[in-house]
Amino acid sequence: MCNPIHNELDWIGLRCVSLHLTTVKDAKSPFRGYRFRVSLVAIFIIISLAFYQFEFVKFTKYEDEFYSKFVEIDTVMAQDPQSLLPCNVDSWNNVTLEDISFKDVRADWKNKSLGSWQNFEDAALRPISAFVYEHEIVVVTAKYIKFDKPLYCRYFDCNHVELHGTAFQSTMFPYSAVYCARRAGANHITVTRTIDEPVEFTVPIVNRVLSKPVHEISVCVGPIYGAESRWLEIVETTEHHILMGIQHFYFTVFNQVDTYTRRLLDDYEQSGNAKVTVIQTEYKHMDWMFHMMQITDCFFRARHHSKWILNVDIDERLVMTRMPLHSYLRTIPEDVGDISFSSKRVQRTENLPSIFTPEGFEREVLFTKYQKTNSMSYMEMKVLLRPDKTEGLFYHWVWARYPGFRTMMIPKTVGYVRHYRTTLPSLAANWVKSKLVTDNLRNNRLDARFEEKLMVAVVRRLKLVYEQRDMWCEEIPWWILRMMERSNYNCIWKVNGTRFA
Ligand SMILES: *[C@@H]1O[C@H](CO)[C@@H](O)[C@H](O)[C@H]1NC(C)=O
Ligand SMILES: *[C@@H]1O[C@H](CO)[C@@H](O)[C@H](O)[C@H]1NC(C)=O
Ligand SMILES: *[C@@H]1O[C@H](CO)[C@@H](O)[C@H](O)[C@H]1NC(C)=O
Repeated sequence: MCNPIHNELDWIGLRCVSLHLTTVKDAKSPFRGYRFRVSLVAIFIIISLAFYQFEFVKFTKYEDEFYSKFVEIDTVMAQDPQSLLPCNVDSWNNVTLEDISFKDVRADWKNKSLGSWQNFEDAALRPISAFVYEHEIVVVTAKYIKFDKPLYCRYFDCNHVELHGTAFQSTMFPYSAVYCARRAGANHITVTRTIDEPVEFTVPIVNRVLSKPVHEISVCVGPIYGAESRWLEIVETTEHHILMGIQHFYFTVFNQVDTYTRRLLDDYEQSGNAKVTVIQTEYKHMDWMFHMMQITDCFFRARHHSKWILNVDIDERLVMTRMPLHSYLRTIPEDVGDISFSSKRVQRTENLPSIFTPEGFEREVLFTKYQKTNSMSYMEMKVLLRPDKTEGLFYHWVWARYPGFRTMMIPKTVGYVRHYRTTLPSLAANWVKSKLVTDNLRNNRLDARFEEKLMVAVVRRLKLVYEQRDMWCEEIPWWILRMMERSNYNCIWKVNGTRFA
């Protein structure tokens, strides 16, 4: 046992023994009786020490057992958010307003039963996102509550401390959105059913108080969900729209997407072409029934951030046939709030490839592989809209505009939306059996120059994202290779293809 106390006792014990020996050496001395007593005392001390030591051993055994069960408690000093430094409030956010804009107009729409939707009756009242504009804040939630029920906007500062006494009474409209009045210094927000119930969820408020939109045109891309790997549709549609002059994309993922597809989405975000929003709810599965949540989130996300948004799914591509998109929009009167396009469907009869293989890829892309197309129709309209001049985007059409704004239909000769729609089991997959479709199929494709440009753009992006290689051990300096146990290196010897092990 290496115990300082124990060692000290040993040391004292040895001193006592040497004292005893000294007394024995002086046996002839006249003080024999005295020496004998001293010896006895010494022996007594030695025995006591031995006994003590024995007890000590027993005690440490007991002590070990005691400490294995005993829990030491460390005091932890939590920070009370109330004691944090006061928030810095930028001047654009130092605004408190009494009410929201267009309240009467919205009341009229409510009266006409517009902008409502009912599903997921037992869902939690959970905010997904929130945006602050010049005249109000809008919170998008993952629930539908009829607009005759009161709801309360609850505001929090940069320290997540509620701004006391600032709650605002509102209702859910349109769809899953709630309009809230502005509050100076509000950085986080939520909505609750009563004015003072405990708050479970808050979301940050994204700044949309912008002097002018960041993007001229963006795409609100329909939700990405489910097991099928969608990377080919995503890359083709996105590169196609980039060639049309649209450079920003709002992607929405429900729950999660396969990691292969996610890499492509991450690349578009990294290259500054996209914002990926992931919507999570308490539901284990999210599917087409949540589509309106993506539309509502994207609509308010884009308001004042993009002047125009094209609202299409990942299998739909805007085709401009007479003049480029921006040139055409410059000819559109300022009082147009939304523009409807007709569409054509192209049959996609096979599954999408699961990974990118450069060999033979040019035959796999949808825009060369599939040509069976039905005739153009206004039955399925797609919309390009101004999110600051319209309200209540419902799937692919807008039902309301702010006073002074109107809708417009684009002639078929100017442009249309090309929809590479699957004929495999999917939503309303029986579309292809309709006589209207089968009687009117013809081979149709895009002009060769455009197809070539698109192919170059698609392959360039895919190579950037998916062409990966092993890490060679030869490219790592020897002194780094020696730093850790070998299992910590993921490299392969270039010379013989074996792992570093
Ligand atoms: C916010 O505005 C108020 C007046 O409305 C002013 O007194 C205050 O100093 C402003 N705060 C900041 C941080 O600008
Ligand atoms: C809504 O309808 C009710 C009853 O029809 C009417 O009394 C009310 O004035 C209407 N409100 C608006 C804003 O139109
Ligand atoms: C492969 O090459 C490396 C580096 O020359 C060497 O250390 C390693 O032992 C080789 N492995 C095999 C299985 O030959």
